[in-house]
Amino acid sequence: MKPVTLITGASAGIGAELARVFAAHGHELFLVARREDRLIGLADEIAAGGRPRPAVLALDLERRDAPARIATELMARGLEAANVVNNAGFGLSGAAADLDRDEQLGMIDLNIRTLTELSLAFVDSLARNRGGILNVASVVAFLPGPGMAVYYATKAYVLSFSEALHRELDGRGVRVTVLCPGPVPTEFQARSGMRVDRVAKLLALPADGVAQIGYRGFMRGKRVVVAGVLNRLAVWLLPLVPHALLLRVLGGRRRTQARS
Ligand SMILES: NC(=O)c1ccc[n+]([C@@H]2O[C@H](COP(=O)([O-])OP(=O)(O)OC[C@H]3O[C@@H](n4cnc5c(N)ncnc54)[C@H](OP(=O)(O)O)[C@@H]3O)[C@@H](O)[C@H]2O)c1
Repeated sequence: MKPVTLITGASAGIGAELARVFAAHGHELFLVARREDRLIGLADEIAAGGRPRPAVLALDLERRDAPARIATELMARGLEAANVVNNAGFGLSGAAADLDRDEQLGMIDLNIRTLTELSLAFVDSLARNRGGILNVASVVAFLPGPGMAVYYATKAYVLSFSEALHRELDGRGVRVTVLCPGPVPTEFQARSGMRVDRVAKLLALPADGVAQIGYRGFMRGKRVVVAGVLNRLAVWLLPLVPHALLLRVLGGRRRTQARS
């Protein structure tokens, strides 16, 4: 079996950049997302750069059978996971009670359910290849999120789960890192219906930079990687702020964004 790095959500944004970074460091890739044309375009680009051509799989990762489908495809192609990068995810802006419920539950399926199953499904092959798991959370994992409540909560789960898994898999030689980016200009903002305000612009980092930071932290075996100095400072200061105040400020900010 040929070892590969499985990357979800590689058709755009941070996932595509993570694919470029892993490929540049000599990892062979298995890329998953729904838009096959984008995955093929990225595979062409990586192959044209003299790297092994990534395998691609067009798949909706909200589907319950998605992780089993990935396992079957890997096996059928003579591949095994040496690293798993759970990057695919999306958010939704608006009051949770007003947003479409099925869409929010679909977000939980993608951001939590599939991420959890893919984190656990390949532990034996990750251990065999002395690889690991890179899960993409967010700085919002450290906050309650009025106006984006379900999204923030999914990322809090990713952070908590990944930190615990880091400890649990330590003894098996499997590294687990959770990457927490701040705002990154990608398709994410349009998909989630977010407005980018001044605070977000101040904290923003480009997707390629975030991917480099995530890769470096992962290879060094870091548990939590917060991308960017200002984001690290914010995460460090947050526990000092009472939640009642935080909720008022964040709720007010979302209302202003919604009005504008
Ligand atoms: N951008 C930010 O400000 C930011 C900040 C912190 C954390 N993050 C996190 O970073 C990760 C990547 O986000 P991004 O900013 O790169 O967003 P993006 O540009 O919208 O890319 C999202 C990726 O996820 C894939 N995806 C979405 N739904 C999917 C589904 N049902 N099945 C399979 N693939 C699916 C998309 O591919 P297809 O549409 O082709 O399926 C795409 O490749 C997410 O987990 C996000 O929560 C983003």
